[in-house]
Amino acid sequence: MTKEKGWRLKLDLGLDLDNLRLTGTKYACGRGGCGACTVMVSKHDPVSRKIRHFSVTACLVPICSLYGAAVTTVEGVGSIKTRLHPVQERIAKSHGTQCRFCTPGMVMSMYTLLRNLPQPSEEQLMGALGGTSDMGKTLHPPEARWEVCLRLPQPTSSQPKRIHTAAKQKKITYKGTPIRLSADFSTETLQARREWNDIFKTLKDKNLQLRILYPAKISFRYEGEIKSFPDKQKLRDFVKKKKKKKKISTTRNPQEDQVQTSQSSSTSCAKGGRARNVQIKSEILGGDVDLGYPGQPGPAVSWTLCPSHFHINHSPAQSSTNRHLCLILDLNYVSQDGRHFPEISDRFLSALEDFPATVPQGVQRYQSVDSHQALQDPVGRPIMHLSGLKHATGEAIFCDDIPTVDKELFMALVTSTRAHAKIISVDLSKALELPGVVVDVITAEDIPGTNGAEDDRLLAVDKVLCVGQIVCAVVAETEAQAKRAVEETKIAYEDLEPVIFTIEDAIKHSSFLCPEKKLEQGNVEKAFEEEVDQIVEGEVHVGGQEHFYMETQRVLVIPKTEDKELDIYVSTQDPAHVQKTVSSTLDIPINRITCHVKRVGGGFGGKVGRPAVLGAIAAVGTGYPIRLVLDREDDMLITGGRHPLFGKYKVGFMNSGRIRALDIECFINGGCTLDDSELVTEFLILKMENAYKIHNLRFRGRACMTNLPSNTAFRGFGFPQGTLVTESCITAVAAKCGPSVREKNMYKTVDKTIYKQAFNPEPLIRCWNECLDKSSFHSRRMQVAEFNKKNYWRKRGLAVVPMKFSVGFAATSFHQAAALVHIYTDGSVLVTHGGNELGQGIHTKMLQVASRELKVPTSHMHICETSTATVPNTIATAASIGSDVNGRAVMLARSLLKRTWEDWIEAAFEQRISLSATGYFRGYEAFMDWEKREGDPFPYYVYGAASSEVEVDCLTGAHKKIRTDIVMDACCSLNPAIDIGQIEGSFTQGMGLYTTEELKYSPEGVLYSRGPDDYKIPTITDIPEEFNVSLLPSSQTPLTGLGESGMFLGSSVFFAIADAVATARRERDIAEDFTVRSPATPERVRTACADRFTEMVRDSCLFS
Ligand code: FES
Repeated sequence: MTKEKGWRLKLDLGLDLDNLRLTGTKYACGRGGCGACTVMVSKHDPVSRKIRHFSVTACLVPICSLYGAAVTTVEGVGSIKTRLHPVQERIAKSHGTQCRFCTPGMVMSMYTLLRNLPQPSEEQLMGALGGTSDMGKTLHPPEARWEVCLRLPQPTSSQPKRIHTAAKQKKITYKGTPIRLSADFSTETLQARREWNDIFKTLKDKNLQLRILYPAKISFRYEGEIKSFPDKQKLRDFVKKKKKKKKISTTRNPQEDQVQTSQSSSTSCAKGGRARNVQIKSEILGGDVDLGYPGQPGPAVSWTLCPSHFHINHSPAQSSTNRHLCLILDLNYVSQDGRHFPEISDRFLSALEDFPATVPQGVQRYQSVDSHQALQDPVGRPIMHLSGLKHATGEAIFCDDIPTVDKELFMALVTSTRAHAKIISVDLSKALELPGVVVDVITAEDIPGTNGAEDDRLLAVDKVLCVGQIVCAVVAETEAQAKRAVEETKIAYEDLEPVIFTIEDAIKHSSFLCPEKKLEQGNVEKAFEEEVDQIVEGEVHVGGQEHFYMETQRVLVIPKTEDKELDIYVSTQDPAHVQKTVSSTLDIPINRITCHVKRVGGGFGGKVGRPAVLGAIAAVGTGYPIRLVLDREDDMLITGGRHPLFGKYKVGFMNSGRIRALDIECFINGGCTLDDSELVTEFLILKMENAYKIHNLRFRGRACMTNLPSNTAFRGFGFPQGTLVTESCITAVAAKCGPSVREKNMYKTVDKTIYKQAFNPEPLIRCWNECLDKSSFHSRRMQVAEFNKKNYWRKRGLAVVPMKFSVGFAATSFHQAAALVHIYTDGSVLVTHGGNELGQGIHTKMLQVASRELKVPTSHMHICETSTATVPNTIATAASIGSDVNGRAVMLARSLLKRTWEDWIEAAFEQRISLSATGYFRGYEAFMDWEKREGDPFPYYVYGAASSEVEVDCLTGAHKKIRTDIVMDACCSLNPAIDIGQIEGSFTQGMGLYTTEELKYSPEGVLYSRGPDDYKIPTITDIPEEFNVSLLPSSQTPLTGLGESGMFLGSSVFFAIADAVATARRERDIAEDFTVRSPATPERVRTACADRFTEMVRDSCLFS
């Protein structure tokens, strides 16, 4: 049971499941970070003579560890063909799946828990789903690591009640020598030393400055590349030597190159005739035990070492060999008898508490269908996702689940390692020499047609513009062979100047991808001079975001033997685009190419399908079927994501809070090619006013060209970034004039936007008022204030944001769709339409529409796939408009069939009446004239509001989400269960954008964060403790696109954090206006909660 992967022999279970065709278990990250590959391992325990069950992530489990064990995959739990397990049934019927790529992993976690504990508590269930399985790999919340690291010692009977509160900087000695800890520390030094007990001496040698902070924490954490560590045994020996008679365990995470040790209990050791208790909570990186005795007077001193900030950080300004180290050493001296230290006030006790993991609760409200609606009419009913049960059993087929076809070859990509360089040579000799391995290498010269655009090549020619750009591709008999050949491909470069990574540098070099986009109304300058009482200026930074679809990019291309025909099975949200690009690249007519999309494991704007084109080149070149599956690291390295943004605002307002003038200038980081950056800039500018009517208004936006992978479309298309600037500006005004500023400046009556499109904001006001009402916003504000008065180290924040989101594209041609309906002689119906199933439930909704129109139950209907052969010239499933336009096309297809359907189908057939019909929806008119700065660019708007409350730990920067209330206008929902799922999903993805997801690059432009262990997407434990979603009742809004809008509502969490931070700063007499940076990671929040401790480390780039 082994299989090669890459040039190494890997023996993990996940790969073997592939071989066995057990495709329900998914391989989504390969790092034990996502949980998609969770299976159950059962072993006989000879002591208890019982079978013990463990949930494990198959991608990390060595086959050799399974000797004598049984492995159960999702296929062994239940099946739609035989019998479902209750876990599978419940998760499907409770609308617990969307794209489902990770659903079998969740099923297996719960199943294992039930095998061990037939009646688990809700907390145990959360634990199983949230990452506390035996292997501890699945679905870790981003904060979990922090919570572990930052937890203070649990009080025990022997522990003191009092804590020393005099936080002074103290000197620490290493073997009697005073130690100072400084700013610069190179990884090379660390590697050279290798002995962890030398670390503090090294710190001394490097003239590092050591600070002791209150309360009791030693914070160790590093980021960046540290290539070698002492091996596990060496470390274990070292710690053992220092801590005799203690049980020490060490672990090493090979992906992070991070060494951790932990000790299970505290003990006493004597030094200098005095006893001290040493309790190590977790994750000590070593060296700590050799700290000199702090010299604190008293009979016994208990101190705890706990890591959080051992930080070797990189800064773009620094070279990789000169990394930055920051060590914060927080010691808490605790008297065993409590005699020597003053009592701690209740206000400070919150520093000692953790955020407990809680089981989320919530209410979902929507309006039931009219009581007169026919029972068999499914429209408006919360019916289960069409593939829900197959999702839960793992029987839903994705692209890579298609069995190996005859003579299939595998493709792997060779990517650039330089950010801006001339290609001097590509040496394929070694790759081609690999015995019996490499079949072919595809370069730009092998492209018979067009190699992309002049400034956006499919395969690099002469030069590269970013790390991760595709230079060539290798085709081999197996994945392992192809990857080995990639490693043997040598490319020589000559670096070019300039190399630009940040927006700030791009502005300095005037490096832009397109002209500035601008909208303006009123007279902004005059208003600033004459109409305002106060002016506030500020900056906003929004980080980028990785799409992180659970199913990475993948394709299977099968060339046919005649007429250059190609069948392409691809994970894309735009098969027509793939078809067209393959055609132009290979110079063959579009009608020879058929793209098939069964379902896609998430897209979010990032799956247009470039890998498919590469696969097609190889398929035509070799004549064999080609499979290309990007692993998570390559997917994240090669593809761009959401555009980072830097915005500057200037706002003028009356003392009443009425805003008279607003000027916002934004820059987005487009990466190395134009891609969708101009469109994103346009949408950003068009949507930036959000819900506010401001008479004198100016928005400017520009896309910067940098040497990073090209950023592209992403759920919300600029709206989540741009509107964060607007809301930050409104928040700044509210800080001066009171919380009613939002209402005061909101659209209230029928009006025109900055681009002169008329609209009625009545649903917006209703959403806003309902949100305030349902969340008891005003009374909770008082409760929050009361809590904040009583707690110094914990602060709560509350925020509410309104939303006006424009749906669709700013061009009429994008608003068209077609559907094809066949009725067969047995009465069954096959529906095909132009939308792609990305997990958003579009096929389910389309069948609901078809069922209503044809008056046939959905059980008689089927959707097979989206195919360019059945519905041609489709539009990308994007911009929240897919269900709308395709739904209308399905309705129109019905009108042609209606008369025949009511007759007996056989009779219709006998009478030679067509039982097929197409429906074609011509779509909405939409245009924008950028010269005149006006237009009707959007078919309609979606309105909503969200309120969130959080609690921030000012000492760690972690937060917990106490409650979120969302009200959205979607009440003519085709399927409220699916729509609420979309709202919750996009809100959560927005929460990730604004609070946890952070892309990190090396100074050379290499993406560091290339997996779930480095890049923290929200997980189940990030859901607010109370999460309520309501669809606005009695709304007459027609079919409404909800796919993207909820993203921005995630910013309510960001602003609630900002509110809590502002309260902390107010209490500490520090200016409330601080630069807003998204994501509000614990590091940033901790820094923003400025206090005497952050002062001590202000020079660290971590906090810049
Ligand atoms: S694939 Fe194994 S945990 Fe992600």
